[in-house]
Amino acid sequence: MYPTLNLIYMFSSKITGVGHYVPENIVTNDDLSKVMDTNDAWIQERTGIQERRHIKKGDGNNTSIMGAKAARVALKRAGVSADDVDMIIFATLSPDMYFPGGGVQLQELLEMKTVPALDVRNQCSGFVYSLSVADQFIKTGMYSNVLVVGSENHSGGLDFSSRGRGVSVIFGDGAGAVVVSRNETGTGGILSTHLHSEGKHKDELMLQGPSTGHWVPELIAQNPQENIPYYPYMNGQFVFKHAVVRFSEVIQEGLEANKLSTEDIDMLIPHQANLRISQFIQKKMRLPDEKVFNNIQKYGNTTAASIPIALSEAWEAGKINDGDLVVLAAFGSGFTWGSALIRW
Ligand code: UT7
Repeated sequence: MYPTLNLIYMFSSKITGVGHYVPENIVTNDDLSKVMDTNDAWIQERTGIQERRHIKKGDGNNTSIMGAKAARVALKRAGVSADDVDMIIFATLSPDMYFPGGGVQLQELLEMKTVPALDVRNQCSGFVYSLSVADQFIKTGMYSNVLVVGSENHSGGLDFSSRGRGVSVIFGDGAGAVVVSRNETGTGGILSTHLHSEGKHKDELMLQGPSTGHWVPELIAQNPQENIPYYPYMNGQFVFKHAVVRFSEVIQEGLEANKLSTEDIDMLIPHQANLRISQFIQKKMRLPDEKVFNNIQKYGNTTAASIPIALSEAWEAGKINDGDLVVLAAFGSGFTWGSALIRW
């Protein structure tokens, strides 16, 4: 069941640098209540979100540019130059274009060598999936430095009419990045990753178009007034109920695989989907406040970017120290979910 523990790898990997970038433009709950039927009390009570960042027209940001900004910080902190990167992994559900993906755009922006650029489309689990892929490439000895980026421009694709309020108040823009390097110290690093999916729930949190199933002319012909397939749909309560179960399961799976328990956790960084979900997991695992990091209050849900932004902020605040057991966990559209255990 846990293949990572049965195989002897030549190397292990560790996160050597973290970075993040968020647009300057702050959008408060009151700002949203001016354009749709919502209010600060509802948003705070149901999600914990107080404000989020949105790209502002003309501020020069898009998904790949924000990703590049976060990546530059992570590279600097890792002491790794763009030329030393062997592979790019770019996770997003809001790419600048349908194809090619954000990975090659990042390669150009950072003027990198012709290294492989892989795009990951696992939504809120995108960062944990990407970290796992990076870990495998390092463990086998194939690469020494992998740049993992999660970046989202949600504001460019949300329905800001009252019709979309159940989704659009939740999501925000931003990017986070980490450098995953061969662990030269011989101790710690990424201990394990566990990934899952369950496609039968794909319709519960999705964006249909544009896609080959919902191409522009077809949509306009069928539905001239309502561009619904072009806006994200979420069955919030259904997703919530599954999230709380899967988060707990996949964290437990990681702990058991490493013969660790919840008491060993020094810092849990859950994907920032909803403060109530994080608090539920915290309570279930009996973790004190100082061992769980949340920043959804400031940024909303930034999907693939949420964990690396939180990781970067927690690290900057001195909340992650050498030797700490850091647990990352994510759940989202697909459904997909995963966890990563890291000895920092
Ligand atoms: O990151 C990927 C994974 N995503 C998640 O894990 C999200 C999981 N789900 C959630 O976080 C919550 O379900 C939401 C925050 C999305 C919604 O909270 P909820 O407590 O489940 O609310 P609800 O959808 O059941 O809606 C309750 C009421 C409805 O009104 P009625 O039918 O009771 O009259 C909604 O129309 O709240 C209404 N509502 C709003 N009211 C004011 C929905 N959105 C809003 C809004 N402002 N923005």
